[in-house]
Amino acid sequence: MTGTLTSAWRSEFPGLQQLAAEGQTWLDSAATAQKPRVMLDALQHWYAGGVANVHRSQHRPGERATTAFEQARRDIANWLGCDAASSLVFTRGTTESINLLAYSLSTSFHPGDEILVGAHEHHANLLPWQQLARRKNLVLRILPLDAAGALDMPAALAMLGPRSRLLAVSPLSNVLGHMHDLTPLLQRARELDVLSVIDGAQYAVHRQPNLAQLDADFFVCSAHKLYGPEGVGLLYAHPRRHTLLQPWQWGGEMVEHCDYQNASARPLPLGLEAGTPNTGGIIAFAATLNWLETLDRAAIEQHESALHCSLLGGLKRRGMQLLGQPDTALACFNAPGIHSADLAMLLGEQGIAVRAGQHCAMPVLDSLGLSGAVRVSLAFYNNGEDLERFFTALDAALEILA
Ligand SMILES: Cc1ncc(COP(=O)(O)O)c(C=O)c1O
Repeated sequence: MTGTLTSAWRSEFPGLQQLAAEGQTWLDSAATAQKPRVMLDALQHWYAGGVANVHRSQHRPGERATTAFEQARRDIANWLGCDAASSLVFTRGTTESINLLAYSLSTSFHPGDEILVGAHEHHANLLPWQQLARRKNLVLRILPLDAAGALDMPAALAMLGPRSRLLAVSPLSNVLGHMHDLTPLLQRARELDVLSVIDGAQYAVHRQPNLAQLDADFFVCSAHKLYGPEGVGLLYAHPRRHTLLQPWQWGGEMVEHCDYQNASARPLPLGLEAGTPNTGGIIAFAATLNWLETLDRAAIEQHESALHCSLLGGLKRRGMQLLGQPDTALACFNAPGIHSADLAMLLGEQGIAVRAGQHCAMPVLDSLGLSGAVRVSLAFYNNGEDLERFFTALDAALEILA
């Protein structure tokens, strides 16, 4: 049953077929995902259909563009399970969304306030906070991991206190692959009126978010990892926090009123969307999510979980050293005595596209005493044959490097 479904899913991704024709197996979806036909069609439709700027033109093409753009915002908000489309701001990606927050919220902080960040965070959810802390004399505190590479929840809860002002964590790390339930942490943050930021860049790919239920203050993710186009990101801001967000970029379309000396910004979302947006990308992303919505979510999660079990089993049988105890979608590993770059190169030469290095998470690799690791990451379009090819290539590489 899943085999038939996987073939049907795979056939919707022309990029996979092209890569296969070149002898390439894509096992790097945590970096970026291949794109479904529906996304390509939506881009073609937008660009071939007569383009116009949104929110500023009185002509018919302009009206059509604005209607399609705001419909895309509603569709995406709907997919995320968030209460109001006006809480959804478009950015260029997760990195930009978090930088936006770090600038936009900066007047909410006072010297000595604490920002708490998970030890497993991607640089995108560490460096903007680190630099904000340096600019404003704040204290950056790192929530520790336990021996299994998951957030040490009792320790994290104990670190939230009266000086805490912001908590920034990801439910699913791009290196350690453990799916966290952040409910207790978010609940404590709410009790203490600590701002919460969820980096959903990896999480949203493997679990459809329900933002109303999650009840975080801010949630961010990137379209390109979620089978959508590059250059589109999301920032969800809970209505209770809208007034905290000051414009971080000034210019066209975000202004309510201005003269030569002064300007005031429009309310969210437009007040945070200065300049011409990536209209085609945003419309194509909504089309992608609408298509994902038609698939059997339970079957997708079951298929991904079965593949992940096979991946872990195969790595363990070969004595590979795993980073943490991943339970979702990816595995980072090293072969004893072999440099990760050598292994990734030999895998690459055999047509296996995996990633090696520090995965934009240098501090966590440093803390494990590692200069790098190989990462295999899965998407619902991968299948058992992809893993067979990977393991055949891994065995050959290990034999050469032994
Ligand atoms: C957990 C996590 N956060 C943030 C990012 C940054 O995403 P982007 O490069 O799309 O801004 C990534 C990318 O790998 C990620 O895995």
